[in-house]
Amino acid sequence: GESAIRELVAIAERLAREAGALVLEGRPDRVEVAATKSSPQDVVTAMDLASENLLRERLAQWRPEDGILGEEQGYEPGTSGITWVVDPIDGTVNYLYGIPAYAVSVAAVVGGPDPATWQVLAGCVHAPVDGRTFTAGLGQGAYQDGRRLRVNSAVPLELSLVGTGFGYVAERRRAQAAVVADLLPLVRDIRRIGSAALDLCTLAAGGLDAHFERGLQPWDLAAASLVAQEAGAVVRGLHGARAGSAMAVAGPEQTVERLVAFLEERGADTGP
Ligand code: IPD
Repeated sequence: GESAIRELVAIAERLAREAGALVLEGRPDRVEVAATKSSPQDVVTAMDLASENLLRERLAQWRPEDGILGEEQGYEPGTSGITWVVDPIDGTVNYLYGIPAYAVSVAAVVGGPDPATWQVLAGCVHAPVDGRTFTAGLGQGAYQDGRRLRVNSAVPLELSLVGTGFGYVAERRRAQAAVVADLLPLVRDIRRIGSAALDLCTLAAGGLDAHFERGLQPWDLAAASLVAQEAGAVVRGLHGARAGSAMAVAGPEQTVERLVAFLEERGADTGP
């Protein structure tokens, strides 16, 4: 019900703010790279791990029946049907370099921790450097620091500011660069902010006209896709698929339709 969702939003916000404070306090002393994942560019800092530990500890205290999926430590199923999908630092490379566009993302979903089947109930994306805090509850709107958010009205592609992002593996990057090379002459400009969660929240606030990205993981998408949707965006994949790792396209409906047609024509949801 409505009040249960409100409660989940409040928990998501408390968690994201507390982890955000920890992460912020860790710069610049605790930014050492702890490990690499899919490639040497795909890093995990000590603070990604510390932030996820904090989120897991709090959830074990406050929501012991719920499951949790986190970027660094994987999936632990629960018994309640609710799963928390968390990204301890989205925008880790920005964090490493001291570029402010990084955030903690916390969402509560039902239907399993998979974007193909889930329904996101509540989410919060908190950027600790400037304190921007985005929240959304299913059917309850999207907010930034208490202000209701609304996406821009659709404008022609050539007037659209389009966000995107890239994976960490060279083969995929080559393919993504080819898609961007074709798109750049057709749009107002491209932004690569470096945090998919903040891209979608920025879109919700009118700071982008659209976003698309291949390779997003559930924790990149969970909270921010609800913020975008509750601000009036369509968030979907290609060929009628739901948004997921193959492709996520977000924006006002007409802009998404145009971008989807462009991306489908290039087979941008297949290949490396
Ligand atoms: C990354 C960021 C980036 C996006 C990558 C993600 P991480 O998340 O969201 O903007 O382009 O696909 O992996 O690794 O910093 O949590």
